Amino acid sequence: MSAIGHPCDKCGEDDWHSVTKPFERAQCACGNLPVATMPGPQTDFVLSKAAHPAYLGGRGSAKTVAGILKMWTFVHEHPGSNGAISFPVYGDIETIFLPEMRKFFGELEGTEWVYLEKKKQLVFPTLNCRAFLLSAEEPDRGRGLNISWFWMEEVGIGGGHKHLFFILQPALRQHGDDFTDYQGWITSTPKVDKPWLKQIWDEGIHPITGDPIENRDRYPIFEARTVDNPCLPASIREGLVKEWAGSRMALQELEGKFISVEGLVYPELREDIHLRAPHEDIEFIATVGGLDFGDASPTALYEIKMDRSRKVWITREFYKRSATDDDWLNVVAEWNLPIVLCDPSASQEDILSWRMRFNINIQPAMAARDRQERGRLWRTRLQVREDGFPGLYISPDCPFLWNEMINLAHYIPKGQEEPQKSVFAPGVNDHGYDAGAYGMSYFERGYIGRPQKTIELVKV
Ligand SMILES: Nc1ncnc2c1ncn2[C@@H]1O[C@H](COP(=O)(O)OP(=O)(O)OP(=O)(O)O)[C@@H](O)[C@H]1O
Ligand SMILES: [Mg+2]
Repeated sequence: MSAIGHPCDKCGEDDWHSVTKPFERAQCACGNLPVATMPGPQTDFVLSKAAHPAYLGGRGSAKTVAGILKMWTFVHEHPGSNGAISFPVYGDIETIFLPEMRKFFGELEGTEWVYLEKKKQLVFPTLNCRAFLLSAEEPDRGRGLNISWFWMEEVGIGGGHKHLFFILQPALRQHGDDFTDYQGWITSTPKVDKPWLKQIWDEGIHPITGDPIENRDRYPIFEARTVDNPCLPASIREGLVKEWAGSRMALQELEGKFISVEGLVYPELREDIHLRAPHEDIEFIATVGGLDFGDASPTALYEIKMDRSRKVWITREFYKRSATDDDWLNVVAEWNLPIVLCDPSASQEDILSWRMRFNINIQPAMAARDRQERGRLWRTRLQVREDGFPGLYISPDCPFLWNEMINLAHYIPKGQEEPQKSVFAPGVNDHGYDAGAYGMSYFERGYIGRPQKTIELVKV
């Protein structure tokens, strides 16, 4: 067909044909079909020069191969560079890694790459590169290494990965300061129960300090969906997608999204029912603010309104990590909130000082003091009533709250199926949830229609 300016490794000719299956790539006239990355996230991930790119995708979305091709590209571009590859368990080397290596580079085994089983090393003799093979079950084995790159495979499975990541990150020092291409990448199905993973790549929060990550370009995500891998049989791409249609399982396992799949607290929440902005004509009879203070976790403040039919609307959101008092006080002023109900654990002193200094009506939400009560408040409101409508709407202007609510999950102890209803799962954000409950408790206290200050009768 045509020359592409690159002679074939096999026959030395420059005469290529374009073949379309399983995805478009050039095949030499001699029949040689070189390994190529798939267009889309796999290619972008392999080409990424960011410090810590993450290839996050559903089952069969070509994660393992993405990691392998990135490693292959890296060592060829940087001869003499050692690295580390980690797996959830050592057994994965034999069952997952080597079969895929052999599928792509099988004919080069023994010459271009050698697996040393006893030493747990992968050697690239002509490139003078070595990869130390680690298991996340023994993260401390990563200590002391001097490497230029690492790849952590399936960091969502099992434990030890977070520890290992923070051991490998400072091990990127093999060539000292002169080398600028140090890289450590990860491949995984996103798992919300691995808070560090979600924090670093999805939320941009450093799991050690709790501070926002300043240079988020260092941690890009390459999202991949199962359906986009043309190398998979249609039975998986189409069959599973149909069978799991729209389920949360499908969102995590096929779409590669960070969501809670098990132990959901409010599975009844539905976008078409509960997520709604108030129509212009709606008349409100009361407005209140709900506030929860955060430090490393976000501070959340909501504007909550009640309409004539006694339905509650959560209309505005302030949601910020490392927020100062000034931040939320300004919002209270801007929204002109007549009353704010806040976390009842706030000190009486603080509350008094805010009232005096800023002239705002802020009170502790005593009625929503305990966890169960907050759960009850939300549950009663979310329930769809006889008229076919729920007692509460969340506006699309409150995206963080919506995201918190649909992902709120109970903790499920390892090896068990039943969630522990008294504890939320690790990594679950609940500040918007709490703030909402504090605010809503206002409407449960019979405040409406009564004067805000009660008159005390004194015996004369
Ligand atoms: N660039 C490529 N060229 C040819 N085939 C590919 C390529 N990338 C992936 N594949 C094939 O697609 C299939 C799925 O890839 P892979 O095993 O990497 O997916 P995965 O996301 O790791 O799957 P799992 O979720 O099961 O771990 C495999 O058969 C693999 O060989
Ligand atoms: Mg895999």
